[in-house]
Amino acid sequence: MSIRLSDGTEIPIEMHKIRIVQKVRLAPARERLQAMEEAGYNTFLLRTRDIFMDMLTDSGTNAMSDNQQASMLLADDAYAGSDSFYKLADAVKEILGYEYLLPAHQGRACEHLLAKAFIKPGTYIPMNYHFTTTKAHFNLLGATVLELFGPEALITESSNPFKGNMDLGRLKAAIDEHGVDKIPFVRMEATTNLIGGQPFSLANLREVKALVAPLKIPLVLDASLISENAYFIRQREPGYENATIRAIILEMMQLADICYLSGRKSCMVRGGLIATNRKDLYEAIRPWLPVYEGFYTYGGMSSKEIEAMAVGMREMTDLEVAGSSADAIKYFAERLISKGVPVVTPPGGLACHLDAMRFVPHLPQTEYPAGALGAAVYITSGIRGMERGTVSMDRDEAGNDVPSDMELLRLAVPRRVFTMSHFLYATDRIKWLLEHRDLIGGLEFYEEPPILRFFGGRMKPKNNWGAKLAAAFEKDFGPDC
Ligand code: F0G
Repeated sequence: MSIRLSDGTEIPIEMHKIRIVQKVRLAPARERLQAMEEAGYNTFLLRTRDIFMDMLTDSGTNAMSDNQQASMLLADDAYAGSDSFYKLADAVKEILGYEYLLPAHQGRACEHLLAKAFIKPGTYIPMNYHFTTTKAHFNLLGATVLELFGPEALITESSNPFKGNMDLGRLKAAIDEHGVDKIPFVRMEATTNLIGGQPFSLANLREVKALVAPLKIPLVLDASLISENAYFIRQREPGYENATIRAIILEMMQLADICYLSGRKSCMVRGGLIATNRKDLYEAIRPWLPVYEGFYTYGGMSSKEIEAMAVGMREMTDLEVAGSSADAIKYFAERLISKGVPVVTPPGGLACHLDAMRFVPHLPQTEYPAGALGAAVYITSGIRGMERGTVSMDRDEAGNDVPSDMELLRLAVPRRVFTMSHFLYATDRIKWLLEHRDLIGGLEFYEEPPILRFFGGRMKPKNNWGAKLAAAFEKDFGPDC
């Protein structure tokens, strides 16, 4: 929720009190430089003891509620037929409106099961935008991902409220070109993660459904950030101003044939699930569940997390919970914009995204501008973000880099974790970095995994720029900051 102060400024207001906390440490710049060097300029390889604000991801890092924590004590750890599973199945029926539930250990496990059940070599999967793990699983089984976003999706500075919409003309053309038989399903991702957490509208989802339903192409919804997409629909789509988050989620679900999600985001736990009302689709996936994940009633998740997921799924439909990170992201983005920092607009769900192409325009994509910016932000602030650019794209078959559509540094805002002073601190340090951006240089790999290289790859800075940046920071702020 946002609240207007008497001077007119709008602030995100916490509709909860903080009763459990985790201590953090602000290591001085010299130590941060050393930590970054040891991590190969890859923020994934940092240790949390060296991190002040962990904005790597909102995945599994949200603050759980007291009711979620309490529910974990009631977990039924039975291998088969656990009561905890049936509680989650009730929540799935009530909130998502689906009869059949397949639990999985996290979102990418759902993608693996979907790929195993439905994808054959030479098929095509149209989607509004890919996610890294989605693409990896679909490609591994021989499918080509088609990203059919609209003309404004990749424009970082925009006022388009629904940059996550699918382009209907492009979808129709793709179906005509490849044929219905080569398209096992169409995927829509709620708040397209990689292009800045941008939502789709219900009108768009309805149009996609109207196009694919007569052709009997199933519509798969990636609902990992479903409550945020619903929150934006309520804020931005005419006719939904007074709708409840619960009603909007249900309307989205009724348009999909299958929904899957990472429970680590909107549901605020660690887990995942696939749900559907189509018995045929359920039965196509079900045999693979005990092969890859675990028995039908736990699917690789801990029973404690299953209990907390049932509670989290209901709580995410609370307007104040659904908007808890979106409002903070908007506040953070507006502060950064007021200092001239280039960020993705409109602000989306899950994170505030810095546009590295505008922040460090002197770096070509071959030198990984978003990766370099991520390392520089850490060295100057102790804030860990995540590269969402060319480092996050794997090489093509010929071994060449594939330049990403965008070069973003994602500063994720886990739900209910940070307070306003954190955002003020972050804004101040990023503003300093903007003023010293000429010090930021490029990166080059010296260790590179063959797939999803962004997780474990190691890079080095060209011309030792990290040390020069740390020295300039220390000169301005002293040795203890
Ligand atoms: N789909 C979307 C839209 C996601 O954002 C993620 C994960 C997944 C699927 C995979 O789920 O991690 O539970 O296996 N996003 C995380 C992130 C990793 O940091 O944005 P998972």
